[in-house]
Amino acid sequence: EVNDLDECYRVAEELVLHAGKIIEDSIDTKKNVESKELDIDLVTEYDREIEDELIKQLSAQFPSHKFIAEETAAKEGRLPQLTDDPTWIIDPIDGTTNFVHRFPHICISLALLVNKKAEIGIIYNPLMRQFFSARRHCGAFLNGKPIKTSDVRDISQSLVAIEPWIAKYPEYLTNVYKRMHALIQGTHGIRTLGTAALTLCYVAMGAVEAYHVDGIQAWDVAAGKLIIEEAGGIVIDTAGGDLDIMTPRVIAACNQQIAQQLVDLFKGAESEILNKN
Ligand code: IPD
Repeated sequence: EVNDLDECYRVAEELVLHAGKIIEDSIDTKKNVESKELDIDLVTEYDREIEDELIKQLSAQFPSHKFIAEETAAKEGRLPQLTDDPTWIIDPIDGTTNFVHRFPHICISLALLVNKKAEIGIIYNPLMRQFFSARRHCGAFLNGKPIKTSDVRDISQSLVAIEPWIAKYPEYLTNVYKRMHALIQGTHGIRTLGTAALTLCYVAMGAVEAYHVDGIQAWDVAAGKLIIEEAGGIVIDTAGGDLDIMTPRVIAACNQQIAQQLVDLFKGAESEILNKN
């Protein structure tokens, strides 16, 4: 049962490692690529295979648990509600576009929430053999070794990852470009990897100081948020308040200072837009 989080973790770890083999074995094959709502929102038969397998195995072990999973939500055309029940939040392949192009930043993301709080977070990139994990109050790990966020406290000294895809929607274009402009001017530089979950882990391990993306989904962020928090960082809403896990607009940062400086930087960039219009 849910009280046995050790058992949940053990099962989850084994399943994710197994799912990683499916990605490894299929990375060089030709995939059947379909697009979902937006032409850049891709899905392959492997996304579905991994998700179906994870749900099948987890429900066999934990029959009362619920699921919020990317491809099931896409198929049903609706997002399940998050309740207090133990709920696994699954992204079978985060970075599907990378997977299709063989860009090796690809991962499986799996989180277990109980009473809407993340208890377990696992993110695994089988191609680069990076297994990130966290349990609430127990720290964050990369391949079993503890990880910590960067201790940089000045945004001008930071490297910031972003995901500008939302600029495909014309109404977001100006905002995204303004934010990118502000970041290029105000930091050491920007990076963009094409997988939200893995980039959150890069914040957790101190490879970047922060990450910003709007318009993503619970399965992109649920596991990564716990991993960052357990590594000493924070994940908040882009406007500066608490993150709503079901409609995430994300600023993830190595610490509170960098998060706040990013919020301020973006507010500055946006008021510029308003002034000019
Ligand atoms: C995508 C990636 C990407 C983010 C997109 C997601 P997927 O996940 O996480 O970084 O910007 O919003 O949809 O579709 O490859 O699982």
